Amino acid sequence: MTTLLVASVPFDDQKPGTSGLRKKVLRFQAPHYLHNFVQAIFDSLAAYQGKTLILGGDGRFYNREAAQIILKMAAANGFGRVLVGQNGLLSTPAVSALIRKHHAFGGIILSASHNPGGADGDFGIKFNAANGGPAMESLTEAFFSRSKVLQQYRIDDADDLPLETLGCYQLADMDVEVIDPVAEYADLMQHLFDFDAIRGLFSGGFRMRFDGMHAVTGPYAVEILERRLGAEKGTVIHGEPLLDFGGGHPDPNLVHAKELVSLLNGAERIDFGAASDGDGDRNMILGRHFYVTPSDSLAVMAASAHLLPGYRRGLSGVARSMPTSMAVDRVAKELGIECYETPTGWKFFGNLLDAGKISLCGEESFGTGSDHMREKDGLWAVLFWLNIVAVRKMSVAEIVKSHWQKFGRNYYTRHDYEELGLDVAAGVMDHLRSQLSALMGQTLASRTVVLADDFSYTDPIDASVSEGQGIRIIFADGARIIYRLSGTGTVGATLRIYLESFEGDVDQHDLDPQAALADLLQVALQLADMLSRTGRESASVIT
Ligand code: G1P
Ligand code: ZN
Repeated sequence: MTTLLVASVPFDDQKPGTSGLRKKVLRFQAPHYLHNFVQAIFDSLAAYQGKTLILGGDGRFYNREAAQIILKMAAANGFGRVLVGQNGLLSTPAVSALIRKHHAFGGIILSASHNPGGADGDFGIKFNAANGGPAMESLTEAFFSRSKVLQQYRIDDADDLPLETLGCYQLADMDVEVIDPVAEYADLMQHLFDFDAIRGLFSGGFRMRFDGMHAVTGPYAVEILERRLGAEKGTVIHGEPLLDFGGGHPDPNLVHAKELVSLLNGAERIDFGAASDGDGDRNMILGRHFYVTPSDSLAVMAASAHLLPGYRRGLSGVARSMPTSMAVDRVAKELGIECYETPTGWKFFGNLLDAGKISLCGEESFGTGSDHMREKDGLWAVLFWLNIVAVRKMSVAEIVKSHWQKFGRNYYTRHDYEELGLDVAAGVMDHLRSQLSALMGQTLASRTVVLADDFSYTDPIDASVSEGQGIRIIFADGARIIYRLSGTGTVGATLRIYLESFEGDVDQHDLDPQAALADLLQVALQLADMLSRTGRESASVIT
């Protein structure tokens, strides 16, 4: 077998966003495009020779082809061993867990998360470091710089490996092990949660539906929920991973998981619903006729963690991304632990987790996780909730309502304006920025502005500074309006507006969030001059 040195064409559009490099499949299929980025990753890393790499993806179109290319490039660049999921599959949380368990050098995940798949859909690639977490900004910047100047890449001239068959193979001097993508992850879950209690729940007639959205979590959910926990057959719906996710949009929210939502609201008695996204790191939790916002979910999990085996020692601290509601802050206060506020994106939790400052964290975008790994983890969150239900013997709705009774309710919503022109979106943000200093002290929607700024974060561990992380307008009564531009889209710009208000009065806890936040939305749209700048009457997606 020979190692080929192939002349590359450097690219100027390989800048990773909130979560790795995401582009249309067609872009990734351009000659040398994937190779150039993979070589840029390897060139930016040091001392990986002879070490182990974890490789897998969410099963979307181009996953298998990309896995074969990366295996040959890893061999040519001197990795000692690659553990690759069967058929090239591994969920994002499974990669994170495998990196940690096998003391690997790092991992490569092939995914564009919840973005649509298929030949005309999106593809993506991200690198996770030895702690199991997403590469920090300094590293992704290095990938980008390198990708722009790279002259050649290294690849072995070898046949494709049979990724559908478990076993050990050799690629030049490199060992390749095709592993069961599910087993080790399922074992870890069994260690963290009281599987006997959850099994008791199911044998007592409790019924759930888990929507795999034809993405990577189907096989994980079947093994854990149906095989190990005894949930009835058919608990997992849309469980088979498909190249195009069955034409759907594998994003677990009220818009994209409509069928699941109607099952939970239908005539048949289903007690619990859950869904995950393309690569398995997101989660949505539903009760019967009840939707748990991700922000509330994080707060309830923090308040109940001590009831579960893996968290019995209590939490060292918690963290949430800036736009996530402040519900968890109230729990942290009650528990007497620190609550950190980080910019959007999981990578900002890594240092806090590594330093033991936090043991639970989450984002409003359907992401929750803990110190068991360094990614958000969809099925883990589902099991966390099932374990809470089993111990507290209450329904999902009862658990959340009793939480509100104790801590108050943070009404919350996010309005996304998708596919705006890049200039239009930047114009809205500039317009908002120009008003910040004048907003302080003003009264809007009968609330007084106490802070208006562009969020900047100084990492408490390594003192690195991340600026321009979203515009915040905070009111004296705890209400907030936040604006930021998405860093994960592949078409135009997506502007996100996040709205939150606090309600302490139990008699006011049953309002429709859109009604409760209507006055704040009006203020948010006026300040941004949305209608005249974007021509949009309303958001494309509301969650
Ligand atoms: C979105 C979410 C963010 C999450 C990221 C990756 O990023 O808002 O919380 O970490 O996806 O799943 P955004 O598109 O807003 O940059
Ligand atoms: Zn994801």
